[in-house]
Amino acid sequence: MKIVAIVGSIRKDSYNLKLAKHIKERYAEKFDLEILDLAPLPMYNQDIELEAPEEVLNFKAKVKAADAVLWVTPEYNSTIPGVLGNAIDWMSRVDKVMNGKPSMIIGSSMGILGSVKAQMHLRDILFASGLNSPLLPGNEVYIGAVHEKFNEQGRFIHEDTIGFLDTVIANFENWMKQILK
Ligand code: FNR
Repeated sequence: MKIVAIVGSIRKDSYNLKLAKHIKERYAEKFDLEILDLAPLPMYNQDIELEAPEEVLNFKAKVKAADAVLWVTPEYNSTIPGVLGNAIDWMSRVDKVMNGKPSMIIGSSMGILGSVKAQMHLRDILFASGLNSPLLPGNEVYIGAVHEKFNEQGRFIHEDTIGFLDTVIANFENWMKQILK
């Protein structure tokens, strides 16, 4: 199974990026996870959507080729970060690459609520007609105080959350098998 991770933070030391890397390594035998970089995407502009820049076409082609998408998002100002909204705008127009593509959401923040508001908004967006992505039901993953859950080498070390993620990923895998049948 090929999955792409869309991470809503482009900073190099992003905890959400590190979480995506943790998932890529820990479940390498279950699926091939490619972490996509949102930094090269220009700002969405309807004037150029029919002749979109190469970076956009490459990004959308990778999403289209994947069996599923893993969203990994922080929360910015009680909603999704702009880079994530920008990627979603590109994906929602012309070739609607998320259409029918299953996905699941996880997210983290330094606050105690662990990106809950951003994830609520993202969930709504996924059901909008431009995306139309079936979302793994239940299995909500809010990782709060994320900066306390990594060691100095940048490894995710919070055993309770690691165990919870094992369960959620197993549920995702089973759900995906039903959908891809
Ligand atoms: C934040 N942060 C934040 N945290 C939160 O729980 N709720 C929020 O609304 C916000 N808003 C917010 C806005 C902006 C512009 C920044 C830069 C940060 C803090 C955020 O959780 C923290 O910076 C995370 O570490 C960001 O994720 P990455 O980049 O580590 O993946």
